[in-house]
Order: sequence, then structure tokens, then C-alpha cells
Amino acid sequence: MTERSDYSATAVASPNIAFIKYWGNINEELRLPVNGSLSMNMDGLATTTQIRFSSEFSQDSLELNGRPIQGPALGRVINVLNAIRAEAGTPLFAMVTSENNFPSGAGIASSASAFAALAFAAVNALGMRASTERISRFARLGSGSASRSVPDGFVEWYSGDSHETSFASSIAAADHWDLADCVLVVSDSHKKTGSTEGHKLAPSSPLQAARVADAPRRIEICRQAILERDFEQFAEIIQLDSDLMHAVMMTSHPALFYWTPETLRIIESVRNFHADGLPVAYTIDAGPNVHLITEEKNVEQVISAFKNLDGIKKILTTRAGNGAHLV
Ligand code: DP6
Repeated sequence: MTERSDYSATAVASPNIAFIKYWGNINEELRLPVNGSLSMNMDGLATTTQIRFSSEFSQDSLELNGRPIQGPALGRVINVLNAIRAEAGTPLFAMVTSENNFPSGAGIASSASAFAALAFAAVNALGMRASTERISRFARLGSGSASRSVPDGFVEWYSGDSHETSFASSIAAADHWDLADCVLVVSDSHKKTGSTEGHKLAPSSPLQAARVADAPRRIEICRQAILERDFEQFAEIIQLDSDLMHAVMMTSHPALFYWTPETLRIIESVRNFHADGLPVAYTIDAGPNVHLITEEKNVEQVISAFKNLDGIKKILTTRAGNGAHLV
């Protein structure tokens, strides 16, 4: 009779907002990005994931917000688990149960927090004692941006050129700078083209090469601005980076237009308010919602300036938070 094995752990992780964006891969399977990126974890928003490896199971299974999931989403989970199992030297299958405390219609992608929590829980369940960097590599295999949700606070993902060299680490703790992200939700419908498909289209834009060539410079400026808490430098570089990514999206083949008229109206208002002396900056992911970044002392003013703008369904405010951890 073989001995029964059973190992479990529960981890929690938050989504992150990228200040310097990831768009395009040099290796789709390993999610090795064409450029490095910088982000901040979004405190208070969380995916909690419980994993149980057991000799009782004959396959991996996934339940998300109480519903069994199959198909490509389960496939991505299995990819991450296979990499972890290979390094841990175990053949055990797992049952993964995951829940988000934020609605899927909030315009915040849950893949970053989901794969960060998954990798963190799995590694700990198997007693691997892996470093943050190593866990971020596993998370990257499920979703590129998930690598950035593993370390604490403000995070840089080093693009690298292999599985070993592409990982994220913290550049500053969450309490280093009291930045807030006020997410102006203008649409809660699911995007037509997800990031995974979008990354594949990036090379078809004639602008992508220029965006990528200039990325190390933007990373340098943004990292420095974060370390020095220099909001003006920071605002200018994150808006440029977001605009460059959307220019690539709009000029890829087929073209991806994530902005709606509301998005553009908000961009215009941010630029006007900023010119009038309100320190606020925008950054936009693969969707129409706009993240307004400001310092804590200006949050109230930012919210009252934007809350009555046409087309805003809700405003979700988060601060810099920690990375993945056990519960
Ligand atoms: C626009 O990490 O969601 O949010 O690796 O295919 O899961 P996959 O893509 P994902 O891409 C994120 C794209 C972005 C920019 C960013 O977060 O850096």
C-alpha cells in the first residue's frame, strides 16, 4: 500500500497597476517580455487561493468564485503547477480554490493576483522555501504581470532573456510613498481582446520597435522618480509610457482600440487639472478605465474633481500594498 500524501496552503495576492507597461513577448510560452516594467500593488483588492496537493487526485482542478473552471484558464494553472512540480520533484495533482474580493466587472484584471497567489500557495504547500524572485518566475508562467504581484510595494520586473533571468523584485516598500490609485470605471463589460492575444499583436505595429528601444530610459526615469518621490517626473513618464503602449495597440494589425470617448475625455481633464496645479496623472491598461495616480494628500480633491464627469460608473481607490503572502 502506498502512503497517502496531502499538502495544502492558502495565499493571498493583490492586482498591480503598471507605471511602465509590459506589452509584447520575446517568448509567448514562457512569457518573457520584450521590455522590463514597473508597478505598484493595489492594496485591499485580493485573490485568496487555497491549494491542496493530494495522492487522492487523478488530475488538477480549479474552482473560481465557487464555480468549476475548465479550458484555457485551467490550462494556464496547470502550466504553473507543472513547473512547480518539476522543481519540487512531486507528481501530485492539486485542487485549487480561488476567490476574488473585487468584482470581475470592476475593470481590474484578476490574472495578476490569481497567478501570484497560486504560485505562492503551491510553493509553500510543497515546502519549497523558494525566494520571492523564484516564486515570481513561476507566477510569470501563468500571467506576465502576475510576476509583479509577488514582491511587496513598488516592483520592477526585469525582462531577462530566459526563465531564470526574467523575474520581479521590490524596489521600495509599500510605505515608501503614499501614492493612491483612483480607478475611474467607465465600463464594466469584458474586453474583446484579452492581454494574452494583445501581446501577440504588438510586433505588427511599426511603433513597437521604437517603444521597446526607449523602454530602458523610461524605466530608469520612473524608478528614480519613485525612489525620490518626485511626482512631476513620475507623472510625465507614466503618461508617456501609457500613451506609447496605446499607440502601439491602435496601430497593430488587427488594430486594438481600448479607449472610449469617456476615456479620452478623462485624459483631457487630467491634463487640464494638472496644468491648473492639481498633481494627478493617468495610466490606462488594456481597457477603457482610467487609473488616476496621485499622492494621498490630494485624493479627496481628485475624487471631487472627477466624480461628476459624464460616464463614470464608479471610482475605486487603492493604495500601495504588499505582495503575495500566506494567510
Ligand atoms: C496592459 O500580464 O495580463 O496590463 O501575460 O498574457 O496574462 P498575460 O498578460 P498580462 O498583460 C498585462 C498588460 C497590461 C500592462 C501591464 O500590466 O504591464
